[in-house]
Amino acid sequence: MRLRSVELALPQAQAAAEFLLEPWRLIAAGTQGGALYFRGTGPHPYILSLREAAAPEVLAIEFSGSPEEVAALQARARAAGVPVDTFAELDAPGGGAGCIVTGPEKQKYRFVAEAAPVAELPAERDRPLQITHAVLNSVDVAACERFVETALGFRVSDRTKMMTFVRCNRKHHALAYAHSDVSSLNHIAFEMNDVDGVMRGIGRMRDAGYDVVWGPGRHGPGDNVFGYFIAPFGGIVEYTAEVSEVGDDYKVGSPEDWKWPPGRIDQWGISTKDGSRIPAAERVFRFV
Ligand SMILES: [Fe+2]
Repeated sequence: MRLRSVELALPQAQAAAEFLLEPWRLIAAGTQGGALYFRGTGPHPYILSLREAAAPEVLAIEFSGSPEEVAALQARARAAGVPVDTFAELDAPGGGAGCIVTGPEKQKYRFVAEAAPVAELPAERDRPLQITHAVLNSVDVAACERFVETALGFRVSDRTKMMTFVRCNRKHHALAYAHSDVSSLNHIAFEMNDVDGVMRGIGRMRDAGYDVVWGPGRHGPGDNVFGYFIAPFGGIVEYTAEVSEVGDDYKVGSPEDWKWPPGRIDQWGISTKDGSRIPAAERVFRFV
């Protein structure tokens, strides 16, 4: 199973679309069923969608897999007794059958069977490949962990004081649940080809008037390089690269394993986090 896209609803979707094309450098993937679709250069028909709405909302976190993988997940979720709604053909680029599984805080996880792989586009150093993780603010992280492990069959990779990281394949995390008092989208991470792509992205965003709010740095869990920005539509977007891969033998880390020395919150220690602006932006897109 692979994380494929995040579906957002928001006011002034067209203005958000313009930002996502330039300077963020996604690629327009058409309009269908009232939504605007965007892709990266990786093997997905789209990695983000926008719908016009009166208030910001996360409509779905979407995964794709083989028909067998999606059927197995559907059976597992049903056996776990959580809400499962099936669909025969998704009204989105690529189509496909699948299901929506609802999480304990109204999170909608959509799973789509891909009939055929989508051709990758030639990699470009200044364009994202795909989405590599979404972090969700959660009021009950333990309940979210139980849900993803039991109903979805995902695995916990690490727990820190701030959040729990979970994976659905060898990538260290596809999702993370951050302790919060709201259920919302904390941020979306867009994977670049390499560290150079992240650094060049930070420069391009600065040229466009968007200062990095945290980064460049390298995280502890996942070991990925990062640069975070507050998008003009309110949410947080991240350029990232070099996320680690782990196997079944990975030892799940605890908050004690991920303590930083005083004054540090990442491996490099060269940038500070803009604590005055980030927390509010992590609460803009709610699950309703
Ligand atoms: Fe991230």
